[in-house]
Amino acid sequence: MKVIKTENYEEMSLQAAAIIAQLVKDKPDCVLGLATGSTPIGAYKELIRKHREEGLDFSKVQSVNLDEYAGLSPENEQSYRYFMRSNLFDAINIVPENTHVPCGLAEDLDAECLRYEELIAALGGTDIQVLGIGRNGHIGFNEPAEEFIVSTHVTGLDESTIDANKRFFASEDEVPRRALTMGIGAIMSAKTVLLLASGSDKAQAIKDTVTGEVTPRVQASILRFHPNVIVIADKAALSLI
Ligand code: F6R
Repeated sequence: MKVIKTENYEEMSLQAAAIIAQLVKDKPDCVLGLATGSTPIGAYKELIRKHREEGLDFSKVQSVNLDEYAGLSPENEQSYRYFMRSNLFDAINIVPENTHVPCGLAEDLDAECLRYEELIAALGGTDIQVLGIGRNGHIGFNEPAEEFIVSTHVTGLDESTIDANKRFFASEDEVPRRALTMGIGAIMSAKTVLLLASGSDKAQAIKDTVTGEVTPRVQASILRFHPNVIVIADKAALSLI
C-alpha cells in the first residue's frame, strides 16, 4: 500500500483527480470504478475543470459505480445515479450509455446483482477503483461482517452507516435500509485501487485498514492483499498512524 499524506481535503482531491486524469489520457477507453459520498466530490469537481479548461476527453470512458440504494429510482435526488449525474456525468462528455450504476428499482434485486457482476466482467474489470471508506471501515456497502462477500449482492446497511448517511435525507427514517453493492471480488480485481479519506472521523478506519489485522470486521483491510493500492488521505484521517 502506498500512503500519500495531504494537508487537507482540497489537496487530497487534486492528487486523486491527477491520477484519474492521467489514466484517462493514457488509456482513453479505460473503465473507471467510481464512488459516491462526500469524499470524491472534490476530485470530481477537478475532473470537470480539467474537462472544461484542458479538454480532458471522457468520450470513450466507461464507468461502473460501486453501489446504489435499493428502492430508489434514478430520478430520486438521493439515489447514487442522480448523485453521479449531478456531481460528474452531466458536466463531462462521458456517454450516458457508458455509465453503469446498479438499478435500485429492479424487481428482482438478486438478478440485478448477477447482471451487474456479469457487466463488470464483460468490461474486463476496472482500470482504477475509487473508494471512500465508512467510519466502520466499509468499502462500497460491504459492511462489517464475519466474512468477505465476493460478488455483487444485496446488503442491509449498518446502523453507523444509516447514521452517517442520514445527513443526505430529510430524516433518518428515509434512509433506505438496503443497498446493492459491488462485492470484494470486483473491488480487488481493479488494476489500481485509489482509497480516499478525509477528516478525523475516518482516522480509526484508516488506521485499522493500513496497520490492523486483515479481517471482515474491517472490510477495507482486505486491500492489504491488493498489489496496487494508493491511499490518499489528509492529515486528520492519518492522525492515528
Ligand atoms: C459510496 C460508498 C461508500 C462511501 C463511504 C464514505 O459509493 O460506496 O462506501 O465511500 O460511506 O462516505 P463519505 O465519503 O460520504 O464519507
